[in-house]
Amino acid sequence: MESKLPTVGLTIFSKISLMASQHQAINLAQGFPNFPIDEKLQHLITELSRQNHHQYAPMQGNVLLREAIADTIWDTNKIKVCPEENILITAGATQGIFTSIQALVRPGEEVIILDPCYDCYDVPILLIGAKPVHVSLNKQFKPDWDKIKSAVSAKTTMLIINSPHNPSGVMWDKEEMLILLELMEQYPNLLLLSDEVYEFITFEKTHISARFNELLRERAIIISSFGKTFHITGWKVGYLTAPKRVLDEIKKVHQYLVFSVNSLAQAVLAAYLPQSNPERLGEFYKRKRDAFRNALEGSKFNLLPCEGTYFQLASFASISEQSDVQFCEELIKNHGVAAIPISVFYADKKDDKLIRFCFAKDSLTLQQASLKLCTI
Ligand SMILES: Cc1ncc(COP(=O)(O)O)c(C=O)c1O
Repeated sequence: MESKLPTVGLTIFSKISLMASQHQAINLAQGFPNFPIDEKLQHLITELSRQNHHQYAPMQGNVLLREAIADTIWDTNKIKVCPEENILITAGATQGIFTSIQALVRPGEEVIILDPCYDCYDVPILLIGAKPVHVSLNKQFKPDWDKIKSAVSAKTTMLIINSPHNPSGVMWDKEEMLILLELMEQYPNLLLLSDEVYEFITFEKTHISARFNELLRERAIIISSFGKTFHITGWKVGYLTAPKRVLDEIKKVHQYLVFSVNSLAQAVLAAYLPQSNPERLGEFYKRKRDAFRNALEGSKFNLLPCEGTYFQLASFASISEQSDVQFCEELIKNHGVAAIPISVFYADKKDDKLIRFCFAKDSLTLQQASLKLCTI
């Protein structure tokens, strides 16, 4: 049988995690926290599992959860989002992205993706018979507007952006959002898919959501993930917001892809979200970022700035001339630490001798990993 996705294999995250466990390396590769979730959340799981939350949830998502999300968006962005018309609960951000692309992009159309990028955008585009058009960010991982503008054509349906950015940790400023707005004004049929899953993991800067402007709001699908915000990546629950006419199309696919999302998880999140304070998440991760960066000060790694997310990029150029993939393999085998090579986030596999560490780990793990990294 001829593969529909001949260039797609096992993701680097699975490969590196497998290698890390084979060599009993400290896994700073895959982006997931290794510390316990909030006790309140644990308590709610027990309490609500005794109630009747075990059958299909409404297709669009638990009503109370959608209301709580609308309140959170109001608290953080001062923007009114209608729980009925604008919010869809998804099985993680991944399903929100997949479903949106399936619903909105047609065969032969083009979607612009900014590299380096998280790896879940290409496959839904390819499966439709549309074309992912990869445009590299500049050296500071900021948008290169000349390149982006020259990539937009009559066939371009969607532009995908991601801030705070995985893997670089860079955030878009107001200035970039305003240029984006100009571009969207220039191309009235272009849709924006704004992947904002790290919206609450920000440090010195404030996250500027694509919601900040009415025109962008009218054309944007904004993707969020409870996995990142509440340290529950395994639950695979997220949500997206979109204007009604767009959400109606996305729901048509959603109802046949998953119908509805895990009912108990939604009930728990509906009770937890109003009691939680996602805006404090940045402080929590800032302490981890600073501790990790300080611990690596004596190492030969050159650390890049980290404005948001729980990822720290490091250059190993002064340590080795190997490819970043080889370097990561040796890091696991010889030094017992797993990281992700950045070339895998580029369609053209550009290798700038950078690797990504995830610092969403408990203090002991970060200390032990740093000690090992400082011996290199
Ligand atoms: C930028 C980005 N988008 C989407 C996702 C997927 O999130 P979820 O686990 O909620 O599907 C991730 C997960 O790492 C990510 O980093």
